[in-house]
Amino acid sequence: MLDWIQLHFARRPMWMNALMLFCLYMAFIYSPFDLFVKPVAVDEEVWFGVRFHGSAAKLLAVPHWAIYAAGAYGFWQLRSWMWPWASIYAGQVAIAFFVWPLLYVGGFGGFVSAIVGGGLFALLTRRLWNTREFFQGDQAPLAERYGGGTAVVTGASAGIGAAFARALAEHGLDLLLVARRKERLDELAGALEKQHGVSVSVAALDLAAPAGQQALIDATEDLDVSMLVNNAGVGYSGRFDGQDPERLFALVQLNCAAPLALTAALLPRLRERGRGAVIFTGSVAGKQPLPLHAAYAASKAFDNLLGEALWGELQGTGVDVLVLEPGTTDTEFQDVAGEIPHSGQTADEVVETALRSLGHRPSVVSGWFAWLRTNAGTRLLPRSWLVLVAKRVMERQTPDHLR
Ligand SMILES: NC(=O)c1ccc[n+]([C@@H]2O[C@H](COP(=O)([O-])OP(=O)(O)OC[C@H]3O[C@@H](n4cnc5c(N)ncnc54)[C@H](OP(=O)(O)O)[C@@H]3O)[C@@H](O)[C@H]2O)c1
Repeated sequence: MLDWIQLHFARRPMWMNALMLFCLYMAFIYSPFDLFVKPVAVDEEVWFGVRFHGSAAKLLAVPHWAIYAAGAYGFWQLRSWMWPWASIYAGQVAIAFFVWPLLYVGGFGGFVSAIVGGGLFALLTRRLWNTREFFQGDQAPLAERYGGGTAVVTGASAGIGAAFARALAEHGLDLLLVARRKERLDELAGALEKQHGVSVSVAALDLAAPAGQQALIDATEDLDVSMLVNNAGVGYSGRFDGQDPERLFALVQLNCAAPLALTAALLPRLRERGRGAVIFTGSVAGKQPLPLHAAYAASKAFDNLLGEALWGELQGTGVDVLVLEPGTTDTEFQDVAGEIPHSGQTADEVVETALRSLGHRPSVVSGWFAWLRTNAGTRLLPRSWLVLVAKRVMERQTPDHLR
């Protein structure tokens, strides 16, 4: 029972679970009381901030009841009609919270209350407006969608890979976690097994070496792999003519050759299974050339394009492909790449975006700021300007001795 509850609450973010519980309360406790127990003489309803009394209020309590019942059902079942319906209703509440204190409280207190109450519900309205993809897809736990099996997650000892591991375990998938730092993998595996009751194995391998890539392929032989997350990757900051060629080749091996080799080995098995998924952690860095991060940007362009092309090839096979394109994310990446620290989204936010988009589109940029910056640059600027603007941005993130 507890497992069932956990699995179903894992289908939506916490704030949405809270809204769902509120709708349940309104539908099953407050509204029936309001409609059937409260005397007509004292009944009161507010729509768009306007107060109604007596029989008018009783009558208007009926649509309120229906709306909260529909909301509870829609959030629970993640019905597609919840978008834009839920957002529009929240907009009505925002107007009500703005208008009501101005009409009935007045003065400075009424004004402050209108701004705070109306503002908070305006934020909720915006949040619900951004849930279109969430409500349009199959949000069943991934273990259900892909018929159980094991998710292979590379780069799982830190950052985005570790966040993928946590999220996929929550979705009920068994895991094979891959990276070089075995202690970290063991620690995460133990915690996930304990917390989610899934089976987690680890493979401590260097995926920048072809032998490591092959060892991982061999390690998957006896597993029913249902998902591959090609996530391990490194950056290498600095002027290209000052960089160590060996490190550049290792970067290309890890960022490009490893996902290529692993996908080539596992995809036929996923197709044969008839359902499964491959995720590539690409990057917004792969959307345009990046002076002072030249090889990294080129390697991520490879991931972005490989994944998007496979999405096209695999339509109708039951195998979903997604390229996740994060902007700046707070992980160990900048430290490893040698960049000046700058902050962005959390790894959990990035992974939430990916799992919401999986099965609905070929790629997703995580975060509105990254989306805006990338699209404004690549769609509006001439190529030469784009490269020079990117260079200015990268100069601010690159220590003097590497420029
Ligand atoms: N953070 C960002 O701002 C950002 C933005 C866009 C895209 N990305 C992409 O996101 C992915 C994950 O990066 P992250 O931000 O989570 O960075 P991170 O915190 O540094 O994690 C990188 C992961 O890759 C593993 N890894 C590195 N070299 C490896 C090797 N030779 N063999 C096997 N595993 C190796 C690391 O584990 P070990 O060191 O234990 O091997 C670690 O688990 C990368 O593909 C990166 O390009 C990151």
